[in-house]
Amino acid sequence: MSRASRKLEHMKLALEIGQSDTHDFQNVHFVHQALPEVSFDETSINSTIGELHLGSPIIINAMTGGAHETTKINEQLAIVARDTGVALAVGSQMSAIKNKEFIPSYQVVRKINPDGVIFANIGAEADIEQAKIAVEMIEANALQIHLNVIQELIMPEGDRDFRGTIERLQAINDAIDVPIIVKEVGFGISRETAKTLKEIGITIIDVGGKGGTSFARIENERRIKPLSLFDDWGISTAASILEVSKYENIEIIATGGIKDSLNIAKAIALGAKAIGLAGVVLNKLVTNGLDDTIEYIEEINQELRLIMTGLGVSNIMDLQRVPMVILRDLKDWCELRGID
Ligand code: FNR
Repeated sequence: MSRASRKLEHMKLALEIGQSDTHDFQNVHFVHQALPEVSFDETSINSTIGELHLGSPIIINAMTGGAHETTKINEQLAIVARDTGVALAVGSQMSAIKNKEFIPSYQVVRKINPDGVIFANIGAEADIEQAKIAVEMIEANALQIHLNVIQELIMPEGDRDFRGTIERLQAINDAIDVPIIVKEVGFGISRETAKTLKEIGITIIDVGGKGGTSFARIENERRIKPLSLFDDWGISTAASILEVSKYENIEIIATGGIKDSLNIAKAIALGAKAIGLAGVVLNKLVTNGLDDTIEYIEEINQELRLIMTGLGVSNIMDLQRVPMVILRDLKDWCELRGID
C-alpha cells in the first residue's frame, strides 16, 4: 500500500474508532478555592514553548498531508488555527520529501496562515537533510520528530530495527536552527526516555500519552490478523506528564485524548505548557464543519479563563502551581514510580 493511501486510511479509521478516554485525567482533581481574588478580565492564556510565543496553550497537533485528498483538510485546519490564533502542526512530511507532488498538501498551511506558529513533522528515521527540507517546505517555526515504535511493530510492513535513533535525534537537534519537539503518538514518554532526550539536548517533549487516538487500534483494523497485545499498551497522558515533569529544563506539551477545557487545565496544572489536540479537531471538522470547529476552540479558550478565575490564577505559569489531588490508578502509578 502506498504511503498516501495509508494516510487516508489512518484518517478514516481514527474517525471511525474515536478516542479511548483512558488518559487518567478523571483521577486528577483541582482543590476548589473559595477566595480567588482574580478578575476574569485579568486572566491571560498566553504561553511559551522554547522561544515561541503562543496566544493560547492549544496546538492543533500533527495529522495530515501527503495525499491530494488531505490538502483540503490541511487548508481548513490552517483556517481554524489562523482564526483562533492557535499553533498548528502538519502531519509527517516524509511523503512530500520523497515525492514532490505532495508538497502543496503541506505548503497550503503556510499559504493560509502566513504569520501563524506552524510546526513541521518527520519521523525519527529521517536524516538531517530531510529535517531541513521539512522545515523549509513550510517555513516552520519548530520541528516535531515523532517516535512511533509500537505503531511500526503492529504494521506488518513496519520497521523492526530502531537502532541509531538517539544519535539521529541528536544530530538533527544540533543541525537545525528552529526548536525541536520530540513527540510520541499515543503511547507516552517515560521518565527514562525523557532523561535520554535531555542528555542529548532536547528541551521540548510532547508526551503523546495513551488515552485518545490509539494507533494500536488503528493499525490492528488494517491487519488481517489483529495483534491485540498492544491494545492497552502505554503510559496514560496524565501519568506521562508527571513522569517527564521531574526534569526542570524540559518543557512539556501534553497530547493524548484531551478534548475539553477542564482536561487542558488539569494537564497544565500537572506540568504542561501547551496542549495538543488531534483526533477531536479532525472529528469536529469532518462532522460539524469549519465554523463549529472554530467556535469549539474559541469556547475552550474562554472556558480555560473561567477555570483560571475559579482557581484564583491569572496566567498559565500560576496555573502550573495550583493545589490538586491525585487519586486511584494515577496515585498508584506515581507511588510505584517514585513520583511525588
Ligand atoms: C496522527 N498523529 C500523528 N502524529 C505525528 O507526529 N505525525 C503524523 O503524521 C500523525 N498522523 C496522524 C493522523 C491522524 C489521523 C491522527 C488522528 C493522529 C498523532 C497525533 O499528533 C497525536 O499525537 C495523537 O493522535 C494523540 O492525540 P489525540 O488524537 O488523542 O488528541
